[in-house]
Amino acid sequence: MTDEIRIRGLEAEEAAARLDELTEILADAVASGASVNFLAGFSRRDGRAFWQSQLPGFAGGSKQLIVAEDGSGLVGTVMLMFAHQPNAPHRGEIGKMLVHSRARRRGIGRRLLQAAEAAAQAAGRTLLMLDTETGSAGEHLYRNCGWIEFGQVPGHSFTTDGRIGRTTFFYKQLAELIPLRPSAPA
Ligand SMILES: CC(C)(COP(=O)(O)OP(=O)(O)OC[C@H]1O[C@@H](n2cnc3c(N)ncnc32)[C@H](O)[C@@H]1OP(=O)(O)O)[C@@H](O)C(=O)NCCC(=O)NCCS
Repeated sequence: MTDEIRIRGLEAEEAAARLDELTEILADAVASGASVNFLAGFSRRDGRAFWQSQLPGFAGGSKQLIVAEDGSGLVGTVMLMFAHQPNAPHRGEIGKMLVHSRARRRGIGRRLLQAAEAAAQAAGRTLLMLDTETGSAGEHLYRNCGWIEFGQVPGHSFTTDGRIGRTTFFYKQLAELIPLRPSAPA
């Protein structure tokens, strides 16, 4: 086992082969009370079904999965989702920003986020958006990494233990100019 952390993209085929590890990271996040779209009572089967449902997006190129890996296996994930609307060829969204509780506060979350931003730029996406539970570790991470808050919505989502909670919305502009223009009908 080594402490060295590798950050890299995970293609659909490898993601399919490593569903158990991806599920463990998601289950650990829910168990630690993180608001990542699921509630307490979340099962491994739910987690596996979630990752399974993402595989076509990874294979088709509408989503990218970036992972952190150490000598014991996968320890973190972040998903980059490309907006599909014709008027938003420059936009993307960040999701499932997760670091396993065994590896937190070692800079892995920051490295994953930076890798997702770099992948977005490489794909010509210059505006990223995300949301997170107000007051969460994620909120601190995003602020620390230069993301801009554009508002909070009270009563937006339920916490894992069923309380209604507030959500903070962030964006990050990766370039001054939008390099792509939507193609207009002739
Ligand atoms: C949010 C999360 C991904 C952060 O991952 P991480 O690897 O621990 O984060 P890092 O070590 O890279 O931290 C980078 C910075 O973020 C901030 N930060 C991260 N976790 C924090 C916490 N628990 N409390 C306060 N600030 C925190 C700090 O500013 C930190 O910099 P510092 O360590 O120099 O002070 C991780 O806590 C996690 O997976 N939580 C559960 C899932 C979740 O809530 N994801 C966000 C959903 S939107």
